[in-house]
Amino acid sequence: MPEPELLFEHIAHEIAFDKDLLGKKVLVTAGPTQEAIDPVRFITNHSTGKMGFAIARAASMRGAEVTLVSGVVHETTPLFVKRIDIKSAKDMFEAVKENFDECDIVIKSAAVADYRPAEYADEKMKKSDDELSIRLERTDDILKYLGEHKGNKFLCGFSMETQNMIENSKKKLVKKNLDMIVANNLKVKGAGFGTDTNIVTLITKDGEVELPILSKDDFAHKILDAIAHF
Ligand code: CTP
Repeated sequence: MPEPELLFEHIAHEIAFDKDLLGKKVLVTAGPTQEAIDPVRFITNHSTGKMGFAIARAASMRGAEVTLVSGVVHETTPLFVKRIDIKSAKDMFEAVKENFDECDIVIKSAAVADYRPAEYADEKMKKSDDELSIRLERTDDILKYLGEHKGNKFLCGFSMETQNMIENSKKKLVKKNLDMIVANNLKVKGAGFGTDTNIVTLITKDGEVELPILSKDDFAHKILDAIAHF
C-alpha cells in the first residue's frame, strides 16, 4: 500500500480541480541557476523554486501535461510532472529550447543569472594576499529568445523588483514580447524568495490586477486562471 500522502496526492489529482488545462502542454522553469567559477565555487541567488513547483503542481492537477525545468532546489517533484534538472543558465536555455516547440504555455518563474564568470578555472583557484576580481559576461536572455520565437504560445514571465515595480515590469512585458508578467516587490513583507506566501501584480497589455497576499499554491492557481481565461 502506498504512503497516505501519496494516496492523497493521487486522489487530489483526480478529483480536486476542474481539468480546464486538459490537452495543454505547459513548460515551467523554477529555481536558481548556478554559474561556476571553479570546481568548488559558483555564483547563484536566493530562489528556492517554491513558486515554480507550485505552478507545475497546479497545472498538472488541472489536467495539463507539464514539463518542469529546475535549477538546484530542495522541492519534491509534483505527481505526473516531467522534471529536467539543470544547473547553469546555459543548461536551462538548452533544456527550454528542446521542449519549447511542442508546448502551448510557458511560465518562466526561474531566477536566471544575468551574468556568469567569463572564464571557468579547471582547477580550484588558490587564494593569495592580493585582491581578486572576477570578470563576468552576459548570459543569454532565455525569455527574450522565447518572445522572439513565440508564435501563438502563451508566454508568462516573472519580474522581481525592489523599486518602480510596475513601470519596470511593463517594460519587460514589451521588451520580451510577453502575454503576461507576474511582478513582485522583494521588499514587501510576505513576498519574494523562500516564503510560503506571495504578493503580486499580474500585468498584461490590457492592464494590471493586484492580488492580495496568498499562499504560493493559491497564487499558482490565480496565474493559471488568468492564463486559462486569456
Ligand atoms: N530570464 C531569462 N533569462 C535570463 C534572465 C531572466 O529567461 N538570462 C527570465 C526570468 O525567468 C524571468 C524574467 O526573465 O521570467 C525576469 O526578467 P529580467 O529582465 O531578467 O529581470 P531581472 O533580472 O530582474 O532584470 P533587471 O536585472 O533588469 O532588473
